[in-house]
Parts: sequence; C-alpha cells; structure tokens
Amino acid sequence: MTSEPRAAVIGWPVEHSRSPLIHGHWLKTLNLAGSYERRAVAPDAAESFFRSFAESGLIGGNVTIPHKETAFACCDEVDETARALGAVNTLVLENGRLLGSNTDGLGFLNSLDHSAPNWDKSGEKGGKSAVVLGAGGAARAIIWALLARGLTVHLFNRTRARADALADHFGSGVHVHGPEEMAAMLEGASLLVNTTSAGMGGNPALDIDLSPLPGNAVVTDIVYSPLMTPLLLLARERGLVTVDGLGMLLHQAVPGFELWFKRRPQVTSELRRLVLADMGLAQDPSKDPIAARESTREVGQ
Ligand code: ATR
Repeated sequence: MTSEPRAAVIGWPVEHSRSPLIHGHWLKTLNLAGSYERRAVAPDAAESFFRSFAESGLIGGNVTIPHKETAFACCDEVDETARALGAVNTLVLENGRLLGSNTDGLGFLNSLDHSAPNWDKSGEKGGKSAVVLGAGGAARAIIWALLARGLTVHLFNRTRARADALADHFGSGVHVHGPEEMAAMLEGASLLVNTTSAGMGGNPALDIDLSPLPGNAVVTDIVYSPLMTPLLLLARERGLVTVDGLGMLLHQAVPGFELWFKRRPQVTSELRRLVLADMGLAQDPSKDPIAARESTREVGQ
C-alpha cells in the first residue's frame, strides 16, 4: 500500500511559518491526497535529521532558517542554483536519495514577472541594471537571480565588507558602491530591491531619496510585514510600480509543491488574501495594488 505523500517545513523555530497554510490551501483546492506539516528541528539535531531523512516519513519539504546551509551539506545531490548559493530551501526524496534545490531566487523573479510584467525590459542606456540594498542571505539569492536574467547589479550595504565579499563571490556583474554614489546608480536603474530588514515590523525605515529613479523603474521589497513598507509607500508617492514581498514567499513555494504532489499550483489573489488574513492584515483589495492588478487579469482569463 502506498501512503499519502507528506511534506513539511523544517526549521527552528517553525511555529510562525506560513508554508503549511500555503501548501494546505493548494492541497485542498486541487483536491489532492497528502499533507504538509511543521517540523521543528533543533540546530544540534539538524545534521542527523537531514542525513537520515529517509526515516522521517516525509517525501520532502522546505528548509528555513537556520538550516539552509546544513541541508545543503547533507544532500546526496543539489541543483545548480543551490550550489551557487551554498543553501537549500527545497528537498525531495527520490529512490532513497535526498535532492536539494533553492527556489528563493526563482520565486523572486516569478513574483516580479507576475506582478510587474516586463520589469526587466526597461533598461536605460542599453544595459539593464538593478540597485540592491543589503548583503545578507536573502541578497545572495536575489543577486543570483538578477544575474541569471542578465542584469548588472549595483550593491549597497551598511557594512561595506559584507557587500565586497558578496561581489567577490559573484564576480564581474556585481559592483559595490558607497552611499555617495546612490543617486547616480538609481538614475540608470530599472529595478530597486530592498533585501534589508529595515522597515520590517517597527524597524526604522531606510533613509533614501527615490527621485533619481526613472519613471518606469520598479521598486520591490522582500519584507512583507508590513505589506506596504515605508520604501514601497515612498515609491508609490512617486508614481512608480511597486511589488511587495509576499509574492516571493508564495512563488518560491510552487516548485516544491509540484515535486511532492505532482501538480503545479497557481499563485492566485485568493491565496494572497488567505495569507494576508492570517497575518491580520486588511484584505480590502483596493488597498492592495497587486490584488487589484491580479483581479483585473483573472477576470480577463
Ligand atoms: P537575511 O539572511 O535575511 O538577508 P541578514 O544576513 O541578517 O539577513 O542580513 C540582513 C541585511 O540587512 C544586512 O545587509 C544588514 O546590513 P549589515 O550587513 O550592515 O548588518 C541589513 N540591515 C539590517 N538592518 C538595517 C538597517 N537598519 N539599515 C541598513 N541595513 C540594515
């Protein structure tokens, strides 16, 4: 007898993860047998958990903080993206072998493609470029994705040495700048990405002047709580297209679901509303520019 496929989000802590809500919604709406749960794995137990994954009862799962690097080290095989990032966020067990991939960068790109089509087709002066703020783990996945799309990356970080290390890792497509060069870099950019935690929760916002950005530039933030971060509000005041961080969270989940449950799920405005409601955020679509854009598109389908 074959049992129903079980997947999980694996992290420490995992109580606040919204992945069970997302995958549970897809299992229900696609009417599939299977489950998606939370597995809290303490840091000192992580290596043995991943090394004996076949005994976990799971067919695969998502890996979250702080285990992405440990999972990477324990996989039998990893894909090209995971290798480039040194981190795994998606696991699947195939014939007893643990395969790892990283869908964070792809989730970022798919979210932009979905919510701001042609965001990468508006380069000024011939070359497309993005200004990226921050140099942590999230910046690493995003820079990988932007380079894969052929953009040049201009990187700014509070601690310059971290930005330099990231640029060394990726090579010639990434240029590190000091704050005095911000205006000049924004002037030629088609995309501005905030990967820092500034503006998250009650954190102070970044001090940035968006006036040099071209009128067709897109501004995005990986922070999704609040949904409209101070940076996105500033961009909207300037009339720029904005993409919030919730899209990346939803889109990065798609490839894993397809691996485990063999159906490709859709990121819909219904799913967005469900997650927003879980976050206790207002669900008025008129206050959610992405939901408003999507509902127009869904009506047209
Ligand atoms: P993650 O893996 O989620 O990217 P991280 O590795 O802690 O998290 O990185 C957080 C990023 O946000 C870093 O680039 C950090 O800058 P530093 O390298 O100088 O620490 C940046 N960051 C956090 N708070 C910030 C703030 N108030 N202003 C500017 N940058 C900030």
